[in-house]
Amino acid sequence: MKEIYLRLMNESRCIASRYELPEFYRRFKPSLTISRRIFFDNPLLIHCRELVTPQYPGDFGHGLEHATKVSVDAGAIVLLEGEKYFTVQAELERAVVLVQLAGLLHDIKRMEYNHAKAGAKAAREILCDFPLSALEVNCVAEAIANHEAFSDHQTCETLTGQLVADALYDADKFRWGPDNFTQTVWHMMNYHQVGLAELFVRFPWGVDGILKIKDTFRTNIGAQYGPEIIDLGVRIGKEIYQYLQRYLQSVGADLQADSGDQAFSGPREGG
Ligand SMILES: [Fe+2]
Ligand SMILES: [Fe+2]
Repeated sequence: MKEIYLRLMNESRCIASRYELPEFYRRFKPSLTISRRIFFDNPLLIHCRELVTPQYPGDFGHGLEHATKVSVDAGAIVLLEGEKYFTVQAELERAVVLVQLAGLLHDIKRMEYNHAKAGAKAAREILCDFPLSALEVNCVAEAIANHEAFSDHQTCETLTGQLVADALYDADKFRWGPDNFTQTVWHMMNYHQVGLAELFVRFPWGVDGILKIKDTFRTNIGAQYGPEIIDLGVRIGKEIYQYLQRYLQSVGADLQADSGDQAFSGPREGG
């Protein structure tokens, strides 16, 4: 990564460290711990991770680290929401495995046009050799196909399918909070070689797009705890914007370098 992006990413991490963790991560620590244990210990997930690791290129902002965070948060959401739907613990844990498989696979086609649909197709191909029923493969693939923000999404045929799809979506959009500035944006800017002055002018437009995601959470947990995560990300974003402004002024950059008629291409591409 270019030195300046690394510097901005590190500064964002310093800013983020001054804030308290969002309530979702404090209140649901036990569920997150169980989800993490399932993610790292379950044989299906271990096998899936081995298969997909080479398919995630290093640093375009939606790689294995992103997929892991989505999987763990989505697993916790399923555990919390699933208490209402499942009376058998094994069925609840199976739904966690399904959402985590979806989390691992959801962005493997991130660089392709219509990456959600392309990812769903790739997931079906990968999972056909797994010990999963056709219904379970369908559940994972549908969740992936419907994970993009600001686009129409289909209703799933089963309750489990709907829960898995909604939890995947919410956990993916949690990444539009602090993770966006402590990780994603800088990798994407670096990957697409966006100049700093251009980034600066686009920045406020990007923040507007991030705020709109707050109304789109699909589970009760997401709707209740997601907005705080997004607001925290925006607060970090505003601080790093001021830091960037001071830096650009110090090097005498032309801050009118872009018309600003499109948002910076961070999370607004749909996550
Ligand atoms: Fe995505
Ligand atoms: Fe994603």
